[in-house]
Amino acid sequence: MQIAVPKEIEAQERRVALVPSVVDRLVKMGVEVLVQEGAGAGAFIPDAEFAGARLVGSAADLYRDADVVLKVQPPNEAEIALMKEGAVVIGFLMPHRYPERVARLRDRRITSFAMELVPRISRAQSMDALSSQASVAGYKAALMAAGLTGRFLPMLTTPAGTIRPAKVLIIGAGVAGLQAIATAKRLGGMVEAYDVRAATKEQVQSLGAKFVEMDVKAEGAGGYARELTEEEKQRQKEVLARHVTAADVVITTAAVPGRPSPRIITKAMVEGMKSGAVILDLAAEGGGNCELTRPGEEIVHRGVIIYGPLNVPSMLPVHASEMYARNLLNFLAPHIKDGALTLDWNDQVLAESVLTHQGEVKHAPTCKLLEGMSS
Ligand code: NAI
Repeated sequence: MQIAVPKEIEAQERRVALVPSVVDRLVKMGVEVLVQEGAGAGAFIPDAEFAGARLVGSAADLYRDADVVLKVQPPNEAEIALMKEGAVVIGFLMPHRYPERVARLRDRRITSFAMELVPRISRAQSMDALSSQASVAGYKAALMAAGLTGRFLPMLTTPAGTIRPAKVLIIGAGVAGLQAIATAKRLGGMVEAYDVRAATKEQVQSLGAKFVEMDVKAEGAGGYARELTEEEKQRQKEVLARHVTAADVVITTAAVPGRPSPRIITKAMVEGMKSGAVILDLAAEGGGNCELTRPGEEIVHRGVIIYGPLNVPSMLPVHASEMYARNLLNFLAPHIKDGALTLDWNDQVLAESVLTHQGEVKHAPTCKLLEGMSS
């Protein structure tokens, strides 16, 4: 069996799907791994480090005989066209954003698995790429925010006087938010955090941060949040406004699965903030948690810096790739027997993450989306 790792072609993507240590593990399982020249360059991995793999120059040569293709970003139409019929592709496939690509995968009879659909069950934690990449993003968000503010984060006692610690507010204490809290704490900030899920209170406090108390609680299905009602949104705004205006740094990470990012920070709240305050909006990918966020841009509104970075995991490509590669290995390994791939469709992880197989779209929401597009 051949597993192929292409060079990612999406602009700004520096991650690579496999790292050398994971290639070696796969080779030991009797698999041949092909890596496109330069695939690891963005993550500082020179070709020479992929010693266990066969290096291939062009994408066409790489894809021709590949049984399994491992990607970070969703393959585009040109990449899909190079894959052989019946091949398997695994990556972040973003079916809601690129349904037409799912249709191409279906038509080319390619079996595709979306890493973001891997169920969040205990057994699959080691394959949970959403979590691994979110923790990278949370860490980097705190560093970027610290870089944007004109202040120290820690308290400093110096001969030139005492510096008060910066007030950091984190909104959304899921995987990314918790990592942002931990990082901002390590940098010495005075951190407080808020989430609509009550379960996060203890997690926030265990990291040494203060939890912003509010009577708005919105646990949804599967450990996620649900969307707030209009009344709850109003209540949230009233309480949060006080904390937002007092903060030197606000990091927002709030998300609701399948919905645009909840708008939590209003223009009025921004206008109440101190000059030089920073909003780092990690929810920019889904439109942003702040009304003024422009995804991918850094703007200044009445002295407040608002940055909505995109594809943050790619900004820490070494460890983001390493963690993602391990997620892929843990996803694939149970299905590799004697160097060949045997897909066990009774496995909940495969059954829930499959997008296309044998010419059919297997993921109900994507099926609906495609039906809507054709009617
Ligand atoms: P996410 O990226 O969908 O959302 C981030 C956070 O935003 C969540 O904590 C959510 O409650 C919060 N949020 C949503 N609307 C909000 C609002 N209006 N105001 C404030 N906060 C709001 O979620 P993520 O981080 O991917 O996962 C969330 C939770 O899922 C985890 O904390 C954990 O409990 C659970 N999980 C379980 C796993 C497992 O059992 N294997 C693995 C990973 C996560």
